This record gives sequence, structure tokens and C-alpha cells, in this order.
Amino acid sequence: KRLILIGPPGSGKGTQSPIIKDEFCLCHLATGDMLRAAVAAKTPLGVKAKEAMDKGQLVSDDLVVGIIDEAIKKPSCQKGFILDGFPRTVVQAQKEKQGVKVDKVLNFAIDDAILEERITGRWIHPSSGRTYHTKFAPPKTPGVDDVTGEHLIQRKDDTAAVLKSRLDAFHKQTEPVISYYKQKGVVADLHAEKPPKEVTVEVEKVLS
Ligand code: AP5
Ligand code: ZN
Repeated sequence: KRLILIGPPGSGKGTQSPIIKDEFCLCHLATGDMLRAAVAAKTPLGVKAKEAMDKGQLVSDDLVVGIIDEAIKKPSCQKGFILDGFPRTVVQAQKEKQGVKVDKVLNFAIDDAILEERITGRWIHPSSGRTYHTKFAPPKTPGVDDVTGEHLIQRKDDTAAVLKSRLDAFHKQTEPVISYYKQKGVVADLHAEKPPKEVTVEVEKVLS
């Protein structure tokens, strides 16, 4: 299966991805995670991406299309993939050759009002991508990853102020991507405001 996950910041894409990945044996390609790794490693790509990311703006189409083109060639992605956070603009949707042949687009539909609490309470384990939330999905020990015992961190862009720009970018640049795929008849709308397990059940229904 070739899947695309679209939704605003905090809608649950990164929370559902590992579950879908394990259940359907797909590779998970998250442009946000790849960009954050590049920023942390101070690679030329990371240096170029950092400024836009810190401000909550989108990184240039050519950079992200380049990342996906490269990553999607991996043998582990040949059976199918989950694109999490890509495409974010209609230009990206049109440029990526594999992403064009998509089976399903999962639309994480949710009201903006819920997202600030989700974003400001999020803690992540950087090396695995595991995500926690102080209220909705707390780790066993505060600030510590359940599996490795390593420290959790907060994302630099997870503030109420930067969230405003990220939401703005979503409504202006990414919502047209949903319309683009609706015309192709491949969009499934999810109730992303429900608890995580209920969202998983909806995803499973769509994919089975
Ligand atoms: P990216 O990393 O993709 O961030 P985003 O789209 O803003 O999405 P998030 O990761 O914030 O949200 P999510 O839906 O994964 O939420 P999660 O499941 O973690 O992108 C970051 C930046 O990189 C962009 O701003 C841009 O600069 C750049 N970028 C990336 N891709 C790009 C592209 N294609 N083009 C250009 N630029 C690009 O959940 C959030 C929290 O809520 C967690 O704490 C979780 O535990 C909790 N939670 C999840 N689901 C539920 C639920 N159902 N109920 C209650 N709590 C829940
Ligand atoms: Zn995410």
C-alpha cells in the first residue's frame, strides 16, 4: 500500500504512523523527522532547512522532494510506504513520481482549537521518534523514554506562537493538497479529535 497522511500539526500523524507501519509492513517516511535529523547533524540540508522550521514555515519544495525521492528508493520501501507530512503543497504532490501513484490519503480532520494543548504537552524520544504527551500519553517516569530510559525532549517549534505560523501554513498551502487528492477520489476523512485508539480503529477500517 502507498499511503499519505495529511493533517495539521498535532493531529496525530506521528502517533498513528508506527502502528500502521507495523500492521501493514510499510516503511515510514516523515519529512519532519528527516529534516530535524539533518538540522541536528548540521548537514548542508539541515543548515538550509533550520530557519524556516524554527519559524513554523515550510521548507522549499525542491529540498523536500529531493529527500523523499532519495528515501523512497530504499529496498524496505518497495512493498509500500507511509508518507507522513509529505506532500505539503500541490507542487510537491505533482513533483514526486512515486507519491503520485497513491492508494489512499488519510485526512486527519480536526478543529484548530484542540491543537495547542496537544502540541505544547508533547515530549519526544528523538532517536526512536516515540511520542508522549504529559496529559494524553504520559511516560511511566516524567521526562524519560519508557523503552530506553533515555531523556525526552520538546521540539523547538512546539510553542503556541510557532504553532500559529504552522497552522497558517497548513490552511494556506496544505489544505489545497487535500482538495487535489479528493478530485482523484482517494481521500478518507478521519475523526482525528477522538482518542488515539479510536483513530487507529478508523484507520484499520479504511485500510482493510
Ligand atoms: P512535521 O514534523 O511534519 O510537523 P507537523 O506537520 O507540524 O506535525 P506534528 O509532528 O507536529 O504533528 P503530528 O500530526 O505528527 O502529531 P503527533 O502524532 O506527534 O514538520 C515540522 C516542520 O518541518 C514543518 O513546520 C516544516 O518547516 C518542515 N517540513 C516537514 N515536512 C515538510 C514538507 N513536506 N514541505 C515543507 N516543509 C516541511 O501528536 C501530537 C501530540 O498529541 C503528541 O504529544 C501525542 O501524544 C498527542 N496525541 C496524538 N494523537 C492524539 C489523540 N488522538 N488524542 C490525544 N492526544 C493525541
Ligand atoms: Zn509528526
